[in-house]
Amino acid sequence: MNQKIKIRFAESNDFDFCIKMDYKHVKKALIKRHIEDKMIILAEFDGKPVGYLRIEYLWLIIPYIGLIFVVDGYRKQGIGTAMIHFLEDYLIKNGHKVLYSSSQVNEPEPQAWHRKVGFKECGYITGINEGDIGEVFFSKFL
Ligand SMILES: CC(C)(COP(=O)(O)OP(=O)(O)OC[C@H]1O[C@@H](n2cnc3c(N)ncnc32)[C@H](O)[C@@H]1OP(=O)(O)O)[C@@H](O)C(=O)NCCC(=O)NCCS
Repeated sequence: MNQKIKIRFAESNDFDFCIKMDYKHVKKALIKRHIEDKMIILAEFDGKPVGYLRIEYLWLIIPYIGLIFVVDGYRKQGIGTAMIHFLEDYLIKNGHKVLYSSSQVNEPEPQAWHRKVGFKECGYITGINEGDIGEVFFSKFL
């Protein structure tokens, strides 16, 4: 991995960056709890936070990527992959066998990226997003 890239769990002093990166509808108190529960991973480039990954657990058991975002200008340099690898190591150590993720059906680029980092399409939900847009789901065995 590029020496300038560092992946770690978010800490309380990353709160403002986390708020900036996450969806506007997400309540601040929830972000705070996610930080405490090691459910947010950050990527730093040269000491500056540029990548954000928030994990959720379906039925409170099965890991699912709620959001992954790399700041424009830092993409296609391995940062997204590095966050996935960090998450996978953590999940394996905690006994998980599969990781889920998803993407809007009308966004081919993040779908291509999921396939590139080893996810396989495993189903979809119709009309779940604004504008009646569906969501395609991916799984990756760890
Ligand atoms: C999707 C995203 C997280 C990928 O992060 P990234 O740091 O750019 O990805 P990486 O550099 O780790 O890419 C890994 C591989 O996927 C490829 N890749 C990256 N973005 C791609 C894209 N849009 N389409 C196809 N392939 C892509 C890279 O070229 C690389 O391939 P290589 O190993 O052959 O060089 C980032 O582009 C992003 O934040 N996009 C906007 C938000 C978004 O769409 N999030 C996902 C919502 S589901």
